[in-house]
Amino acid sequence: MLAELVCFETSCRARYPVDRVLYSCPECGGLLEVDYTGTWPEAKVLQRRWRERRLQNHPLEQSGVWRYRELYPFVEDTSHVVTLREGNTPVLEAPLAASYAGLRRLGFKHQGFNPTGSFKDNGMTCGVTQAVRLGMRRVACVSTGNTSASMAAYASAAGLQSIIFIPYGNISYGKLAQALEYGARTLQVEANFDQILALVRVLAERLGIYLLNSINPFRIEGQKSIMVELMDQRDWQAPDWIVLPGGNLGNTSAFGKALREMKQLGLIERIPRLAVIQASGAAPFYDLVREPEGARLKAVEHPETLATAIKIGDPVSWPKALLEVKASGGVVEKVTEQEIADAKAQIGRCGIGCEPASAATLAGIRKLVEAGTIRSDEDVVAVLTGNVLKDPDYIYRYHTGQLKAPDGTFIRPTYGNQPVVAPNDADQIARLLE
Ligand code: F0G
Repeated sequence: MLAELVCFETSCRARYPVDRVLYSCPECGGLLEVDYTGTWPEAKVLQRRWRERRLQNHPLEQSGVWRYRELYPFVEDTSHVVTLREGNTPVLEAPLAASYAGLRRLGFKHQGFNPTGSFKDNGMTCGVTQAVRLGMRRVACVSTGNTSASMAAYASAAGLQSIIFIPYGNISYGKLAQALEYGARTLQVEANFDQILALVRVLAERLGIYLLNSINPFRIEGQKSIMVELMDQRDWQAPDWIVLPGGNLGNTSAFGKALREMKQLGLIERIPRLAVIQASGAAPFYDLVREPEGARLKAVEHPETLATAIKIGDPVSWPKALLEVKASGGVVEKVTEQEIADAKAQIGRCGIGCEPASAATLAGIRKLVEAGTIRSDEDVVAVLTGNVLKDPDYIYRYHTGQLKAPDGTFIRPTYGNQPVVAPNDADQIARLLE
């Protein structure tokens, strides 16, 4: 199978070898994607082979990404693979959340079960493997927290140096703590995500550091595995809808590519509709899909949301994401801070939990069901992108009525669960619990 980088712009489609260090098309500046030429193995053969691999102890087969390596065959030599046994995340039925959203049934594909607690690990294992293949010594990213935590872990596992750039004061402590613990050189820049990405693109070129943001097409290849594993878990029966939060729109691009390729290979019979949910203070993609055909994304200059993971005003992958949403007959919705916070508490009450950005999914589904876009009897899977422990500060403030929205108003603790201070006295505590 021949793997090449191809420019995503239909007017260009220039091709480059996969061993060139490129993040955008040198001809036209367009986004790049990995494209394969050759004959794919038969769907039935792959499905059987992947099932058999689940029973094996080899690190590659224990990874929920590399088990499906036939779908991203850019690595010829698997000794380059850097794995922390990522993927293998469950699909959890959530009746309480389903009824909150007005659905009969709802499944959560929980990417928070990954080694560093977010879906970024699915992509990072591929991105860092490519860095190793290319012989790079240093890797870098700008991040709202999860990419940096993941990159720091995989880089250290591979013996590479990692340099992370984060918006000062705008990521959760859980994520910052992870980067420090995994040994990343950490720069807290006094600018927002979008501004820092522009800065890091210049620096990566100047200093010869490998960039691992989601403009890196190999990360997107790895994130395809989230959809592949989901379909495997569902015995290759596609749901009606896949719902996910949208920030920089890398995941939307990856899911769309995965679904198209799986349909093309005959692994699934139909493509589910993608529903991308943004926070209302950082929703440029929501605005874009309401513009006439051919419009370009207008960046939100000062994005605002407590769901800091998706506090992004100028998502780089919008051209890919737009194509994927359209190709799937999908939609884009936006939700308020209050809606995200309440949905998050509901996911917690299911015994599942997630970080704020992930909860945008449930809030969005509720809105889409109410509007009649999603029917209550449809088969819906929402992707929870990050672990509940990523942002404990948000949780404590919500439950105690101290969570303040960016506009200065307090979020109502609709499903608040205030801890009680109790005296060291059995009688008094017994009375309290009566
Ligand atoms: N959910 C979580 C928990 C995230 O960390 C992110 C992105 C998203 C959703 C949005 O995904 O960017 O592919 O549309 N976090 C990035 C980061 C930007 O730096 O960790 P997207």
